[in-house]
Amino acid sequence: MTRLTIFDEAGAEVGATGDADAITAALGGIGVRFERWPASEQDARSEALRAEGYTTVDTVSVTPDHPDRDAMRAKFLSEHRHADDEVRYFVAGSGLFTLRERGRIYAVRCEGGDLISVPAGMRHWFDMGPRPHFTAMRFFRTPEGWVGDFTGDPIADRFPRLEPA
Ligand SMILES: [Fe+2]
Repeated sequence: MTRLTIFDEAGAEVGATGDADAITAALGGIGVRFERWPASEQDARSEALRAEGYTTVDTVSVTPDHPDRDAMRAKFLSEHRHADDEVRYFVAGSGLFTLRERGRIYAVRCEGGDLISVPAGMRHWFDMGPRPHFTAMRFFRTPEGWVGDFTGDPIADRFPRLEPA
């Protein structure tokens, strides 16, 4: 189930919700776009994103037995940011985006049907778990904008990782 858990930077939980509207509102407050797309609207909504300038789109699919899953998981487990927005639509499966903004940590467990857009420059990390399972569409303004700029801060190690479903 989609879930948002909010912590302070010391690791104390300060709120949690599984309600999609509440997640959209809480994330909207820090400039993060979060939407639940009904399957019937997937094509129309992704076309709308292209029209907004996210003109490069691809789809990634990772299965629990992927031979490179450990390396793939490790790649974005530490705090980083990008020059472009990180826009992902989960077609199926799950992944955990954790965002750091204004003294709070927002852990967003995304599931099939969820769109999240992490704004350019926002510190965050991503966990696909030890047995990754997801299919996601990635929307880019420029693929080069999605190179990770790692902060070197070990903060991600203090917060929960993706729990198996
Ligand atoms: Fe990222």
